[in-house]
Amino acid sequence: MSRSIGLSPELVDYVRSANRPEHPALARCRAETDAMGDVSRMQISPEQGAFLQMCARLISARTAVEVGVFTGYSALATILAMRDMHGDAARLIGCDISEDYTGKARSYWDEAGVSDQVELCIGDARETLAGLTETRAGTVDMIFIDADKTGYDAYYEAALTLVRHGGLILFDNVLWGGDVVDADRISEDADTAALVALAEKLRTDTRVDIAFTTLGDGILMALKR
Ligand SMILES: C[S@@+](CC[C@H](N)C(=O)[O-])C[C@H]1O[C@@H](n2cnc3c(N)ncnc32)[C@H](O)[C@@H]1O
Repeated sequence: MSRSIGLSPELVDYVRSANRPEHPALARCRAETDAMGDVSRMQISPEQGAFLQMCARLISARTAVEVGVFTGYSALATILAMRDMHGDAARLIGCDISEDYTGKARSYWDEAGVSDQVELCIGDARETLAGLTETRAGTVDMIFIDADKTGYDAYYEAALTLVRHGGLILFDNVLWGGDVVDADRISEDADTAALVALAEKLRTDTRVDIAFTTLGDGILMALKR
């Protein structure tokens, strides 16, 4: 799991214990993902999960899309908050290319009783989102983008079609471990260059209002006007 850049381990523990305890299925997802080793760094932190839940509550989100499901933590956090507000009407559409990672997610969603409210679309998210824009334009409340970084711009453009006015688009990892201020990384690494280009684009994009936050590895928020 990631942790906020610049926070000591003691401060990270303080923040985590100051938040409400995770749902048991979220805690099991985190523990079992940690046991997968290095790859577990892809999972959002508990405080980022609490943040996503608060975002969903602030805009009374009922329908969400997630690009990059992995073992299901952020999707579960989001659907739990939406179900709390909207009951069985809450829906989350998750996009991922990996059957292997997302196969683990289902058991946490089952444990939390939300499996019926999560639709998993396996395949390149560019294609999945293109399909969704045909049928669900303007109907989605919140989109969390946390997959391949070179895809972020394409995901953003599709997300702008999918979300309603006042809908929220969130991008994870916009600090990219600090690489976004390293000139060598920007010129050598396509992921870093894509994240810097996205931040520059959104700074002047009149279709959205934005807040660039430093939570975790950086979460960039864009609210559709
Ligand atoms: C950082 S992880 C997502 C973490 C997840 N949000 C969580 O909190 O546990 C990124 C995920 O994006 C998926 N991914 C990578 N490229 C993709 C693509 N082109 N389309 C859809 N999913 C993709 C990977 O399989 C991986 O599961």
